[in-house]
Amino acid sequence: MAKKVLGVSFGRKMSNCDIMVKQALMECEKAGCEVAFIRADDLNITNCNGCISCVIGMITGRGRGYCVRHDDFDILDECIMQADGLVIACPTYETSVTGRFKTICDRIGPSHDLTFRKAAYDEGKAAGKPEEKLPDARTFKKRSAALISVGGAMTENWIALTLPMMYEFTFPIGIDVIDTVEYYGAMAHESVLGYPEMMERMTKVGQNLLASINAETEEERLKWRGEEEGVCPVCHTRLLQVSHDGCSVDCVVCGSHGTASIENGKIKVHFTEEEQNRSRLRWLGKLEHSTEIKTQAQPSGTIKNLKELKAPYADFNPGVFTPDENAFGNIKK
Ligand SMILES: Cc1cc2nc3c(=O)[nH]c(=O)nc-3n(C[C@H](O)[C@H](O)[C@H](O)COP(=O)(O)O)c2cc1C
Repeated sequence: MAKKVLGVSFGRKMSNCDIMVKQALMECEKAGCEVAFIRADDLNITNCNGCISCVIGMITGRGRGYCVRHDDFDILDECIMQADGLVIACPTYETSVTGRFKTICDRIGPSHDLTFRKAAYDEGKAAGKPEEKLPDARTFKKRSAALISVGGAMTENWIALTLPMMYEFTFPIGIDVIDTVEYYGAMAHESVLGYPEMMERMTKVGQNLLASINAETEEERLKWRGEEEGVCPVCHTRLLQVSHDGCSVDCVVCGSHGTASIENGKIKVHFTEEEQNRSRLRWLGKLEHSTEIKTQAQPSGTIKNLKELKAPYADFNPGVFTPDENAFGNIKK
């Protein structure tokens, strides 16, 4: 059966992200894959309202891990479930991903968290539940992805948070990122089509994804195919957070923890194998987090007089400032 590749663009219609994703998809289609393309802005997807019914449903076994709301997220979800490979491109807005990107990531996780879903699936199966009452079994399929961030600014650090944030799309389901591209300085070209080297890189993205989804071994599928190794040995990004005591570092993207030193003028990080396995990109790291939630989250009713304690806050509603008549704001008069 032909492998399936899904492209998702968070950019403007027929602008940089759309074209870059389509270039990679065309390469996959040429090689015999079935491809699909989604423009995120064409979908009507509401924000997660934080009700956590998805997680509660999986923990109690009463639900399948889905959102109580049905909207166009279901279209994206079905495409992700079918895909073997994904190419995702997102513009940089205010140094990071777009609002819609974040909205979609919140709808993906934790409802799609691999460890929550697997536990609910296995327990449901053991209890004799039919497949349609369990989390979607397609969740557990291996998938590979390439992530592309795009920014108009000429200075690279103006797109610094976009690629790191893009892992929020892939890590809950355990989609393995095998290639990334950070395209900054887009405003220097009317369109990426006026930048042949970047279009060639997109062809390469398609080829890298093909090599991964058609790999014969898991090691080959997971092989890092990006142009730079990056700093974090697990996710290959370069965004580290220094610990409060200044003695160690965390990878902000995947949660690997280690130490940093300077050797021959270069920053070197050292993450032990054990710490790498605590990364949220790996099963053990994910399991640690879902177990934390299952065992440490306090049920409602723990604080007996909570209603009373909340009352002064419920009654405290100062509202907004009255518009300043002497200033020239944007409130319609
Ligand atoms: C609200 C907004 C904020 C932006 N902020 C940044 C920014 O912080 N850094 C940057 O490099 N580009 C920024 N840009 C430029 C976009 O990243 C750029 O236009 C990009 O090409 C959009 O992707 P698209 O062409 O696929 O639509 C911003 C654009 C908008 C609309």
